[in-house]
Amino acid sequence: MPNVKMRQIYLDNAATTKLDPTVLEAMLPYLREKYGNPSSMHNMGIEAKNAIDSARRKVAGILNCSEKEIIFTGSGTESDNLAILGYARKNKDKGNHIITTSIEHHAVLDPFHRLEKEGFEVTILDVGKDGLVDINELKKTINDKTILVSIIYANNEIGVVQDIKEISKLCKEKNVIFHTDACQAANYLSIDVEELGIDLITLNGSKIYGPKGVGILYKREGIMLEPIVYGGGQEFGLRSGTENIANIVGFAKALEEVTKHKDKEVKKTTQLRDYLIANLLKIDETILNGHPTKRLPNNANISLLNIEGESLLLLMNEEGIYASTGSACTSDSLEPSHVIVALGLPHEFGHSSIRFSLGKDTTKQDIDYVLEKLPPLVKRLRKVSVLHKTVEEALTQKV
Ligand SMILES: Cc1ncc(COP(=O)(O)O)c(C=O)c1O
Repeated sequence: MPNVKMRQIYLDNAATTKLDPTVLEAMLPYLREKYGNPSSMHNMGIEAKNAIDSARRKVAGILNCSEKEIIFTGSGTESDNLAILGYARKNKDKGNHIITTSIEHHAVLDPFHRLEKEGFEVTILDVGKDGLVDINELKKTINDKTILVSIIYANNEIGVVQDIKEISKLCKEKNVIFHTDACQAANYLSIDVEELGIDLITLNGSKIYGPKGVGILYKREGIMLEPIVYGGGQEFGLRSGTENIANIVGFAKALEEVTKHKDKEVKKTTQLRDYLIANLLKIDETILNGHPTKRLPNNANISLLNIEGESLLLLMNEEGIYASTGSACTSDSLEPSHVIVALGLPHEFGHSSIRFSLGKDTTKQDIDYVLEKLPPLVKRLRKVSVLHKTVEEALTQKV
């Protein structure tokens, strides 16, 4: 059992965020007395239906789209699957070529692999050493058969932010539908679909101080999708199943709150991130993964050569510092993170990578605590390590 009195520094906000108390307040009535089914004709059903309508209006207002374009789902994973499987399967008469990147979340990569088995031609674009997609490469890859491009807005592991406006402009010129997974982006970046020109966007509650187990898919009007779940026909026939009213209400409230505080959070968090990164890089044989500035304000992903990331995580855990290696969803695997490998770095950089993801409650004192505790832990691990490479040696070795 963890020592409850121990200082706890939560730097794993990319894995999930704490539920905002105002969000919990908004949700509680729908978990207690307002338990009607929105499909029921009576007053309690109408009350539940009104709650969903109001949440949909709020979300649509923030994304600058119409209410009919918002589909509530059960997670970010489900929204990604609905966008990708749903669009490709429904529109396969238009072409069978689909494009994504090597740094996507598995919620995107796996539907692409699934579609490959169904006969689609799949291109997985490489990214540069900084994690950025080369727009010219993307342009060359699009052909007459291409129907869909899916590129993550802000990466969950290395925090790299793509030039989404340029990508969507290119897709529009080429008459290709563009989906982006924006789960990590909503706290800090614009999600205005008109400004960005996006056709399909995935968001989830778990990363925006909302409840887990809820997501949305924005679907531009006129785009046709094939459902992946069939039944009662809820959510415009695209996501059958009785709606999770409390989660939907909570999602809308959470999105409203993060939008309200976005500018302030960007400023504050960027400063803390830069302070953290600058000091982490003072540790020998340490590199920053991903672009130094085109990255999320809350992401610091580093590789500390000659240690195992998992071992360091365990030692940090004992000091009450909670971070991550690889993505939370895949961190039980022994494979190095596919995202770090996609940057063209040797595997040892993947094995020694640690992601710190800051949140709205992170303070300078928290960061100072990490900066005090971390270097001796790294030293301890390196003392017993059989590896003693410099970054240069590791980068130039033959793989
Ligand atoms: C970028 C990205 N996409 C999708 C997901 C999956 O979201 P969910 O856990 O809501 O299914 C996550 C969460 O880890 C994520 O970071």
